[in-house]
Amino acid sequence: MMASSDVKSEIEDLREAIRYHNYRYYVLDDPEIPDAEYDRMMRRLLELESLYPELVTPDSPSQRVGAPPLEAFETVPHDLPMLSLANGFDDGEIREFDKRIKRMLKTDEKIEYVGEPKMDGLAIEVRYEGGILVRGATRGDGFTGEDVTANIKTIRAIPLKLRAPHSPIPTRFDARGEIFMPLEGFRALNQQRKKEGLPPFANPRNAAAGSLRQLDSRITAARPLDIYFYGVGVVEGITFTTHWEILKSLPEFGLKTNPHARVCHGVEEIITYFHDLLKVRDDFPYEMDGVVIKVNDLGLQRRLGEVSRSPRWAIAYKFPASQEMTQIEDITVQVGRTGVLTPVAIMKPVEVEGATVSRATLHNQDEIERKDIRVGDWVIVQRAGGVIPEVVRVIRSKRPPHAQPFIFPKECPVCGSTVVRLPGEASHRCMGISCPAQLKGKIRHFASKRAMNIDGLGQKLVDQLINRGLVKNFADIYRLTLEEIANLERMGEKSAQNLLNEIEESKATTLPRFLYALGIPLVGEHLAQVLAEHYGNLDALMSADEESLMGIDEIGPQVTQSLRTFFSAPDNQKVIQHLLDAGVHYEKTTKNRLPLSSEVFVFTGTLPNMTRDEAKKIVEGLGGTTANQVSRKITCVVAGEKAGSKLQKARELGIRILTPEAFQAILRKYSNPK
Ligand code: IVH
Repeated sequence: MMASSDVKSEIEDLREAIRYHNYRYYVLDDPEIPDAEYDRMMRRLLELESLYPELVTPDSPSQRVGAPPLEAFETVPHDLPMLSLANGFDDGEIREFDKRIKRMLKTDEKIEYVGEPKMDGLAIEVRYEGGILVRGATRGDGFTGEDVTANIKTIRAIPLKLRAPHSPIPTRFDARGEIFMPLEGFRALNQQRKKEGLPPFANPRNAAAGSLRQLDSRITAARPLDIYFYGVGVVEGITFTTHWEILKSLPEFGLKTNPHARVCHGVEEIITYFHDLLKVRDDFPYEMDGVVIKVNDLGLQRRLGEVSRSPRWAIAYKFPASQEMTQIEDITVQVGRTGVLTPVAIMKPVEVEGATVSRATLHNQDEIERKDIRVGDWVIVQRAGGVIPEVVRVIRSKRPPHAQPFIFPKECPVCGSTVVRLPGEASHRCMGISCPAQLKGKIRHFASKRAMNIDGLGQKLVDQLINRGLVKNFADIYRLTLEEIANLERMGEKSAQNLLNEIEESKATTLPRFLYALGIPLVGEHLAQVLAEHYGNLDALMSADEESLMGIDEIGPQVTQSLRTFFSAPDNQKVIQHLLDAGVHYEKTTKNRLPLSSEVFVFTGTLPNMTRDEAKKIVEGLGGTTANQVSRKITCVVAGEKAGSKLQKARELGIRILTPEAFQAILRKYSNPK
């Protein structure tokens, strides 16, 4: 098809518009139009270009999908070498650097510097000829690099064509910058790799380098790479007199620079700049490894020159290292409030980014095996996201000869109960009913409204009872005396008596509530109901074997193993027996109980298909009760359209909230038995 001039101008208009919006989005970080509108323009451009392939140009914004794989990268020379930087590690070394410069320039005047974040990625140079991107190369050894043009073109923050709104397009413009991977993209990429069974990247810098040096640029295209430009190489057609001028003009060409660069007058200002940035380093969405300090005046830069591949006019003031090496002295296991066991590496203390690190979670058994971490190993540690310490990897060559793989304990290190790893779960759990590590959480759950419903037994009381050793397991609650309770903080005789009454009342319960209250891992309210209906009494359930449990519709191998381990632990059996001895009892005929008999409903807002009175009648017909005000006694709030303060209050109290649709689904379930 021959392209008409209309088509040509539509294509050119689209390209101009897309370039402009790329610039707004990537360089100014200030998009003007919604993403959907941008996508629409891009689709139209792709459509026209596929109809008229002869009109596709290398600088079209469509040319970012990646090209077919290369055999190998070509090496290309840099016309001006890409230098590296000398490093400084403390304020003293930076003052030395400043003194050297003054000495060489024979001056006592303050030197003007530019401070810039030192991005942790890899350096590239992009060449524009007549404003069109023609080549992208890695730094390599500084004199020759690898031609990664196809890959560079997939990075959206790098324009394929320079903008030049105020000045003529330079005939040649070599821009230099640091490609990096923002932390968010890095984490997402590693998560995806984990899912696909691929090894994760150790840090964002490796991820950026690995992504850019792909022979198949379609892979690069899918990686979240970004860039900050920080300088120029060969430039024809413009002259600059200061480095700051370069940094100001790069964005005008559409080349993004780091907004945190500063002009500093004298060395003390630059030192302050460094410490200010160090303080907020962890708040940045990307990793920096220091600041680069450059003499601003290009004439002075020329006078200072360079030694052994590093300029005398610049230095990198490095942040304290974020990775260090240390040795694992032990692996201990912690028990969390929910009974999950977490292995923790105990390490020789080491300073990482200014904080002492001596412990790091190893998460779970799979993670230990994946990294093959053993006691005695030397490891690389880092502070993930700058805060939480983590073991990155083992240095295998330093492994002591007899280091043994870590074996998870079979018994809980806190209470000695059986530890299980349920099928399909990543973590090990303690199955002890009275494990002190979990006791506070377990007692709160036991007393909660939908379990044994001992309303007065709130968090603060539970804490006191446990801290004073009055409650060591569920059964102890039923042995509490008036005097013991009255002696607790903020308790009087009257409130103590109220609590005792509530404890007494709670003894009359139902089997589902009792089962739910025991806090058996994976057995929530619903499964408690299913089990109670199936077995009818506790003895039958406690002696049910695997085959019997697996025969129930909703029960799989996980729950089966959880129940079997829980009920076979002697300590658990003992506590259950003590509860029954104390007078806890349940109605045996769970099968015929009305389904909503333990629910108290409040309605608020309008229901679409029924009046409030109709809804109340149906609930009552199913054994439930209804009320008009929201209080702690309420178990369910149905919130229709225009729900007001009642809904608000329900949220505050953490009461279950149902939409009218969810409510009707419940009614349907119970009104039409299968
Ligand atoms: S200037 C002569 N500025 O650090 C000037 N480099 O060790 C040389 N880097 O290869 C580079 N951020 O990869 C400069 N704002 C920045 C930088 C930066 C990161 C990297 C770059 C360079 C290395 C020098």
